[in-house]
Amino acid sequence: MQVILCDSAEHVGKRAADIVEDYVRAGSAVLGLATGGSPSSTYRELIRRHREESLGFSDVRAFTLDEYAGLAPDHEQSYHTTIRREFVDHVDLPLENLMTPQGDVSDLAAEAERYDAAIGAAGGVDVQILGIGANGHIGFNEPTSSLSSRTRVKTLAGTTRRDNARFFSDGEVPRLCLTQGLGTIREARTALLVAMGANKAEAVRAMVEGPVSAHCPASVLQLHRRAVVILDPDAASLLSLADYYREAQEMNDELGLSARSGGFD
Ligand code: PGA
Repeated sequence: MQVILCDSAEHVGKRAADIVEDYVRAGSAVLGLATGGSPSSTYRELIRRHREESLGFSDVRAFTLDEYAGLAPDHEQSYHTTIRREFVDHVDLPLENLMTPQGDVSDLAAEAERYDAAIGAAGGVDVQILGIGANGHIGFNEPTSSLSSRTRVKTLAGTTRRDNARFFSDGEVPRLCLTQGLGTIREARTALLVAMGANKAEAVRAMVEGPVSAHCPASVLQLHRRAVVILDPDAASLLSLADYYREAQEMNDELGLSARSGGFD
């Protein structure tokens, strides 16, 4: 796991965008997109680079991590609509290249299986952008999720529903979702997790410095060959090896190592 300590949310966005850009400029990238507040500064920076530095997404394909069950893709709070509003509609990524699990189907289990297979058929995800929940979830893989799980139907934890209620005008967050599994996420060539804010500090500590455990699903990234964790000072505040991460990062920067070219696993 490579831990990058940043000064601010904007700095987190720039470091994360550097890694995504590296894959996009290499051509025909498959991106894994996360919704939520954490990747906002990353998407803002990618949009800026699209507008000002001709970073093109026309041959990029993208898969989102998860979707609420029961919401049609065009529902205002669906993750399909959210990722369009936050990122996809602001760059030249063709809409037909954006894949999201469909939440309003009658057979959710079959949809989950289809989605997992579609990721494989696309050759897998090159770089998977991730946030982390205060309870350590990634995607909607709540505590006790199997570390080998595939895309499937999940019940949302009460804490997650309360965290997300602010986005729903009636406060009624769906109870079920479709989410890529931890086993699916682990297959992405690079896992890129961004976290900001003191409410993530304990989950970040458990993910980076705790044991690999379904109690903190994000800790599965310790088993990933190329996991990069980019943090603001508040999210990093409970880490005990901060000096070591800083030193390792300086060395990586000096040697010009990138997530795509390797050096971290
Ligand atoms: P957030 O959520 O980015 O909105 O904080 C992250 C998550 O719950 O996975």
